Amino acid sequence: MAVVDRLVGIDLGTTKISTIIAEVDEEDEVQVVGVGNTESRGMRRGVVVNIDKTTEAIGIAIDQAEQMAGIKVKDVYVGIAGDHIRSINSRGVIAVSRGQTISRSNVITQHDVERVIEAARAVALPMDREVLHVLPQEFSVDDEPGIREPVGMTGLRLEADVHIITGAIASAQNIYRCVKNAGVGLRGLVLEPLASSYAVLTEDEKELGVALLDMGGGTTDVAVFYDGSIRHTSVIGLGGTNVTRDIAMVQGVPIEQAEKLKLEKGGIYPPLGDTAPISVKEPGNGKTHQIDPVQLNEIIRARTEEIFEMVMRELKRVDCMGLLASGLVLTGGGSLLNGSVMLAEEIFHKPVRSGVPKGLSGLAETVHNPAFATGVGLILYGLKHADETAFNGDDTAVFGRILKLFKGWFEGLIS
Ligand SMILES: Nc1ncnc2c1ncn2[C@@H]1O[C@H](COP(=O)(O)OP(=O)(O)OP(=O)(O)O)[C@@H](O)[C@H]1O
Ligand SMILES: [Mg+2]
Repeated sequence: MAVVDRLVGIDLGTTKISTIIAEVDEEDEVQVVGVGNTESRGMRRGVVVNIDKTTEAIGIAIDQAEQMAGIKVKDVYVGIAGDHIRSINSRGVIAVSRGQTISRSNVITQHDVERVIEAARAVALPMDREVLHVLPQEFSVDDEPGIREPVGMTGLRLEADVHIITGAIASAQNIYRCVKNAGVGLRGLVLEPLASSYAVLTEDEKELGVALLDMGGGTTDVAVFYDGSIRHTSVIGLGGTNVTRDIAMVQGVPIEQAEKLKLEKGGIYPPLGDTAPISVKEPGNGKTHQIDPVQLNEIIRARTEEIFEMVMRELKRVDCMGLLASGLVLTGGGSLLNGSVMLAEEIFHKPVRSGVPKGLSGLAETVHNPAFATGVGLILYGLKHADETAFNGDDTAVFGRILKLFKGWFEGLIS
């Protein structure tokens, strides 16, 4: 099969930076041909705090993936996250333009749809924020609501309900700068949980209602889908790193040891069987700590419970708990914690499953892990929106225009 496009996703996480290179054939089959993964430095709670360190880590992750794939990366889709992200629902209304046909009926065209989305997008934003995504939820034609695809329908008045996601300009610019410094172009900037949703959620789940929880190192991101589209997004400023820090503090061990204990011996529930103390030697001074595995898991559980409860409060605050007929899907490295799915079921009283990325072949085994949901999702987002983000001079795609706008504005501000 001939390769028709190459898509590259870079997940800029707080703890890891991963690059995935994929090739797309004529049938839209996506094959992973390169993966790079390196420890993240210079990011804090989902945002860049050190340009040089982040640039360097991006460079390493790209190099690794390029070597595996045997190709050079040109431009990339990058995830954006952090608690600067805000989302609002907005509505736009337009009068449907009169057709040029003999009947001169008011048939809704793609152009009308773009106009109404533009109208819905026109919300007042503070100077330091810019729109990242405008995601249509539903349209109304005259007074008929709940329409997904209004093109071709007849009507006088077209309304669009959209979900607008905005981010701090400074955060987006810092990502842009790091990517540019690493020697590649930015093809698209995608909200991380939105990207992840492409890799782990089914159409049915999005239809019936589901919350995606990306349990990362620095943050826990929440995205709610209902009736086929995104309804709510928010970011909780706590993640797996906080769990590790709690272990380090309570047990008096260095962070690296605490992380190792969490990964190798940790879980949410009391360990089954062997509860003998775990001996941990401190590197350097040879000091030995005796760790009680029951207590270790109590520490882990307490923080994880707190995170889930914060998510639940947020879902209740925005009236989304009643929308989750399909329950919750957990992704991110934090979701690998033993017992996290069961604890989430206990707390939310909903079905919960682990979100392993799907939709790719090739080296897909390497990324067959909830921690790679964002990276895989960036590729799948790119596949779906390639036309809109290709900057091919086509001015009709509204998202393309928005991205161009965003891009132009980046370039204007960065020398
Ligand atoms: N097997 C495991 N068990 C428990 N925790 C794990 C496991 N594997 C990874 N983690 C934890 O997952 C976290 C990293 O998750 P992930 O790679 O999704 O984060 P990230 O994308 O770097 O961060 P963020 O999305 O917050 O910016 C770390 O805190 C790590 O300790
Ligand atoms: Mg992440």
